[in-house]
Amino acid sequence: MDISRYKKYISEETMMGPNSVRILAELFDRHPLQFAADDLILDLGCGTGLTSLVIAKETGAKVYANDLWVSAQENGKRFAQWGIAEQVKPICEDANNLHFGKKQFNALVSIDSYHYFAGHEGFFQEKILPFMKDSGVVLIGIPGLKDEYTGRAEELLTDWLGDNAFMFKSPAHWKELIGSHGRIESVKTWEMDCFKKAWSDWLAANNEYACGDRQYFETIIKPYTCFVGIYIQLK
Ligand SMILES: C[S@@+](CC[C@H](N)C(=O)[O-])C[C@H]1O[C@@H](n2cnc3c(N)ncnc32)[C@H](O)[C@@H]1O
Repeated sequence: MDISRYKKYISEETMMGPNSVRILAELFDRHPLQFAADDLILDLGCGTGLTSLVIAKETGAKVYANDLWVSAQENGKRFAQWGIAEQVKPICEDANNLHFGKKQFNALVSIDSYHYFAGHEGFFQEKILPFMKDSGVVLIGIPGLKDEYTGRAEELLTDWLGDNAFMFKSPAHWKELIGSHGRIESVKTWEMDCFKKAWSDWLAANNEYACGDRQYFETIIKPYTCFVGIYIQLK
């Protein structure tokens, strides 16, 4: 995927952490998604909708851009400014309590958000799977712990993340948490390559959260954490 196509959309207004377009690009380069105009993708935890824009442009599908903290009204305004209001629909719902139709989505994509709500066994089967079409695909990119530090998030990350440290889990741990089901064909998890570049774009941003992260990058973030890629193929 050519990231330069989206440069003008990546700004202090739209970024909410390490560059989500780079994370998405790695997922799409590894698992390209091409769909028809009436196929449907759920962007879960879309934030300001930057990822929803890229998903729509790269796949050709219709996108439901769902987020909890950013309102549908705010994202709707941005989508209209970007000229994608016909293709991308803003929604504001909690991922724990979604109200979509059964077997509605051809794919789910979720960048830098799945760890906030999905870090327990059974979440995928109960809260996500019912909305996915047969043969559907799930692509997730989230911050996590390197495999060698599995289970040590609180000990290693609390100075940086406080009470949220528990959300960081390793690729091996996420594979276990996703688990199995009669409708799941395969699950792959891995440590992503985009870590350095995605972080360096974020640390260069003039944003109070980026300033906070800068303090911990060399001592905590770089040695212990990674980005976890998750790919799920349904039957
Ligand atoms: C760090 S931001 C990432 C946003 C965007 N995907 C990106 O990469 O720029 C995390 C997002 O997760 C969303 N989120 C957290 N908990 C959620 C929940 N229970 N349901 C839906 N979204 C949630 C928040 O609303 C927030 O926008």
